[in-house]
Amino acid sequence: MIARKIADNMSKGSMIRQMFEEGNRLKALYGADNVYDFSLGNPDLPPPSAVSQALRSLVAENQPGLHSYMSNAGHEATRQAVAAWQSSLSGLAIPAGLVCMTVGAAGALNASLKALLDPGDEVLVLAPFFFEYLAYIDNHGGVPVIVPASRETLLPDPAALEKALTPRTKAIIINSPNNPSGVIYPEETLRMLNSLLLAQPQTIYVLSDEPYADLVYDGQSMPATLAYLQNAVICTSWSKSLSLPGERIGCLVVSPRCESADQLINACVYCNRILGYVNAPALFQRVIERSINARVDIAQYEKRRDLLADVLTGAGFTLQKPAGGLYLFPVCPDADDVAFARICAGHRVLLVPGSGFRFPGYFRLCFAVREAAILGSAHAFQDIARHYGLH
Ligand SMILES: Cc1ncc(COP(=O)(O)O)c(C=O)c1O
Repeated sequence: MIARKIADNMSKGSMIRQMFEEGNRLKALYGADNVYDFSLGNPDLPPPSAVSQALRSLVAENQPGLHSYMSNAGHEATRQAVAAWQSSLSGLAIPAGLVCMTVGAAGALNASLKALLDPGDEVLVLAPFFFEYLAYIDNHGGVPVIVPASRETLLPDPAALEKALTPRTKAIIINSPNNPSGVIYPEETLRMLNSLLLAQPQTIYVLSDEPYADLVYDGQSMPATLAYLQNAVICTSWSKSLSLPGERIGCLVVSPRCESADQLINACVYCNRILGYVNAPALFQRVIERSINARVDIAQYEKRRDLLADVLTGAGFTLQKPAGGLYLFPVCPDADDVAFARICAGHRVLLVPGSGFRFPGYFRLCFAVREAAILGSAHAFQDIARHYGLH
């Protein structure tokens, strides 16, 4: 008999999973080209050529120890490359010793949470949020405290944040560019958050989940987290920026300004080991070392974002154009966003209701899909808009 909690969680399922299964059913019935699937956040651009070049040269060189265990924190040269990259972004001198290579951003979050949490410690999460945070916090005995973003700006709401803080608050997870809303936290938001947290009697750590940091559009850039937040740990990956989600390569970087930084990085490295990750994938650490400045072709994502936003607004939906990430987060025209998703599925459009991110009243569409699918979906969105009387 499996654990009751796991059985219970599995029976509830995730909305994304349900959409995935509904998508498979519809695709079997109507053919994949006739189903408009915006539900999954699976980067579909190929990795940049620097990645395949690095792989080819690594295989050709066939250095001894290429596939061996290494320090649980990762290869020294890879950590140095990551430290140099984060130092240049933040203007801080970050030593390689504060970097731990991880199994994706998810591995970085789990290692950090395990390193920080005592049973019952509270972790603030800002809705809308990546649904797995709740499971990650629970994995390590923490208690999630959900704080809704401002409905006007979709940014963290200072008053709501202040209200949610208690003596048990140990950490906060932030995510910019945000999945699902696409907002980038501006400098003022990061400054506000830093002063609010430093004003508390206990140390509160910021886990900055930023796998979309390089997917930023309209020539903007994202403020460097470590330049603004003192007790911060960056949890990130190359899943999106190099289109490598299946390779599970990421890292965590503890700020040199973080309280007990050395103790914290040692704890994270230890947790990386005992969670059973042991170390991040060896070959892909070497790939990262050689392609750390490469990125997927962001212009293609930007074009798809614009196309899908035009399809939606043209049909009468309301949305704030995302500044980064891979998702649109339009306002839902139905008071019941789950019912809305069902109606859309009836039009062969798959999306995720905002409730799946604990932010009802919106829905999420991933624009990492072929342009033909985006353009093909226009008539379906017009039919859905007509159903709701939108103009
Ligand atoms: C906000 C957010 N955080 C973390 C992750 C997990 O990233 P990774 O696949 O690198 O573990 C994802 C994946 O989609 C995500 O959207």
